[in-house]
Amino acid sequence: MKNLNILGIDTSCDETSVSVVNGLRVLSNVMPSQIEFHKKYGGVVPSIAKLAHIDRIDGVVTEALKRAKLEIEDIDLIAVTYGPGLAIALEVGLNKAKELALKYNKPIMGINHMEGHLLSSFVRRNSSKSENLSKLKKTNKTERNISSDLGDVEILNNVKFPSLGVLVSGNHTELILIKDFGKYEKIGETLDDASGEAFDKCGRMLGFGYPAGPVIAKISKEHKSNVLLKIVKKNQSVVASLTNKDSKKIYELPIPMVNSQDLNFSYSGLKTAFSNLVNSQKELDSTTIKDLSVLVEYANVSQVLLKVVKALTLYNFKEIWLGGGVVANITLRRLIRDLCKKNNLIFRAPYSNKVTGDNAAMIAVTSFINVYNLKALEDNKDVKLYTKDIQIMDRDPSLSL
Ligand code: KG4
Ligand code: ZN
Repeated sequence: MKNLNILGIDTSCDETSVSVVNGLRVLSNVMPSQIEFHKKYGGVVPSIAKLAHIDRIDGVVTEALKRAKLEIEDIDLIAVTYGPGLAIALEVGLNKAKELALKYNKPIMGINHMEGHLLSSFVRRNSSKSENLSKLKKTNKTERNISSDLGDVEILNNVKFPSLGVLVSGNHTELILIKDFGKYEKIGETLDDASGEAFDKCGRMLGFGYPAGPVIAKISKEHKSNVLLKIVKKNQSVVASLTNKDSKKIYELPIPMVNSQDLNFSYSGLKTAFSNLVNSQKELDSTTIKDLSVLVEYANVSQVLLKVVKALTLYNFKEIWLGGGVVANITLRRLIRDLCKKNNLIFRAPYSNKVTGDNAAMIAVTSFINVYNLKALEDNKDVKLYTKDIQIMDRDPSLSL
């Protein structure tokens, strides 16, 4: 059975990303960041993103093929993100994919960006770069899929359903009931801001640049041993509480939605409460900034944890898959991994931070899984039979899983 070579393209937001995969394995994943262009605006500016994509896309395609040591002729399928995302940015990737497909007579498959994040834990490290694998195994940091010596199709055959997808990014905070590959049902979502957005906005209040999530995470990692964290019930509400071990100062932030019966999230309250907390400080000295960083991270990810705990009481999940930029956060990962251990569930998460944020490897791998799911590999049928017509696909930016 042939493992397909797939060229993936994602220009949904501010990353001009092109990747080549062979089956589930990444041969290259190129994504020059545009962050320096958007930083001063505190977020992504669509028109700037579009111009940068146009400027870079050809070079990134060439580089992705070069790093994969393949020619365009070796590619079996082109996968491209069609939505959701910034319409004018998506257009650049779609046009490039169509141009390549026409010129080189390749089939093309449109991929939902959120399905890409959902399946991002199936992206496998290239085996020729596997020298780190044994190290990962030793430190027990390896994820289920990459620790396995199985072939790609066996890995997919062994997945157990239903699984719970936990998508946490700059724009989405969602829980997905995964009945099978391609059969998804959204069972929870944010009613206002997303978790990543809250990280960025709260970080800004502490004077951090965009994106603030990784800055908060770094400070939290370094400072956590100086504080005590706990979740406490207060009257009708639930709060995250931090005590500084030296100063004995106590800070609190609410964890909303915990008492609601559904699986939805809310992050606007955290933003407001954090703004009040920051403004009530006499002085924002470096210890206070560190304390508040640890607390805001804890309050943010605890909401995800508590909703996942609730989801486990409602469905008979066998696995939990993490996806999205915020799952680079090690506190979130640790909480969900421990929960999986406790409940005997399989834990899957992207093997590297190159696959947590927006990237084309997850798009290419998602198209491989779509082809697998359509049984195209087993029957050795022509992939063309299974590709959707990209012209007629619904690209409503609100489209989401
Ligand atoms: O998935 P992503 O790259 O973009 C979207 O599609 O939204 O997610 C970006 C978000 C940003 O809000 C960023 O602050 C957050 O992910 N992020 C983190 C971490 N790394 C990235 N948040 C918390 N901890 C991190 N380590
Ligand atoms: Zn994304």
